[in-house]
Amino acid sequence: MKKILLATTAVMAVAALGLTGCSSDNGRGGEATTEEGSGFAADSLIGVALPDKTSENWVLAGGLFEDGLADAGFEGDVQYAGASNAVADQQQQISTMITNGAKVIIIGAKDGAQLGTQVQEARDNGAIVIAYDRLIQNTDAVDYYVAFDNFKVGQLQGQALLDGLAASFPDKTTYNIELFSGSSDDANAPVFFEGAMDVLQPKIDDGTLVVVSGQTDIAQTATDGWKPENAQRRMDTLMQGTYQSTTVDGVLSPNDTLARAIITSVSDAGQAEAPIVTGQDSEAASIPLIMSGAQYSTIYKDTRALVATAIEMAQALQAGDEPDTTTETNNGNVDVPTLYLDPVIVTKDNAAEAYAENPDLLALVNE
Ligand code: BGC
Repeated sequence: MKKILLATTAVMAVAALGLTGCSSDNGRGGEATTEEGSGFAADSLIGVALPDKTSENWVLAGGLFEDGLADAGFEGDVQYAGASNAVADQQQQISTMITNGAKVIIIGAKDGAQLGTQVQEARDNGAIVIAYDRLIQNTDAVDYYVAFDNFKVGQLQGQALLDGLAASFPDKTTYNIELFSGSSDDANAPVFFEGAMDVLQPKIDDGTLVVVSGQTDIAQTATDGWKPENAQRRMDTLMQGTYQSTTVDGVLSPNDTLARAIITSVSDAGQAEAPIVTGQDSEAASIPLIMSGAQYSTIYKDTRALVATAIEMAQALQAGDEPDTTTETNNGNVDVPTLYLDPVIVTKDNAAEAYAENPDLLALVNE
């Protein structure tokens, strides 16, 4: 009976692969970690190593992983890196998961460039590594990557900034803007920024957008640790210097936590007209600001969907199947088989529609 079930699963997996057009070459030179039909025990340990809680999506992910892994019949071990020693914490947590015999380790990296030793250790011990939301860089030992399409997030942010400026300042033909990016230890930060600049750079080049501070380099725009106080400090400095005698019309903010800090800074500086500020994550604290117009846009990346997708990958691996992937992402060493989910741009015009399936967020829209 068991054999028949396993065989059926394998057939279904092959059918699914055929449908999604995936190849069975998983980017590791065709050398699959698990052979079709040879997964691991259904109640195996699955480790989840999350970074420090720099934004609400990470806070939500922990509980969702705990519930989702339990529902799937796995033994889950969900750990967060502490805020003060996050890199070392996370390295230690992953090593412990390996020692405890985890079959899959799902990692939201604190510093994607500092996990090479741990993921190699995982591979050497037969554990499969799934990079969650943030890519792990410069190592061969990452098996899969699941995230919302980060470049697209940036493009949507750039386009929202342009749209918001045009709608809010119909009489202007040029706009003063500033650019913010995320933490330099997060592999997503440059991708968000490049996506945004893909849209904004032509408008900077033709003079429509003026970055009055001249700070367009990612090193100048970065926000260490994704910390709001760092964004607020930089914006305060800009307001006290660059914007003494002129106004800032728009600010590219890479996420909602930083958007709120930037909005506070501009308002504290006494600028009467609110700038167009972008964001990301659809944080509960930003939805009222979106509805009032204080923050122009956010991005909806449904954490429930991302966690569910990562767990589905673990389930496929458990059954001995190759998880569905749609593309590959180069991490500096290898092309990592990747499944990207679609981010959604949200402004007050489409918020009700965008959050229609999310009662918690929808309630904030209707408040
Ligand atoms: C995530 C964003 C989040 C940021 C800060 C990024 O890696 O993709 O959604 O805003 O980290 O936590």
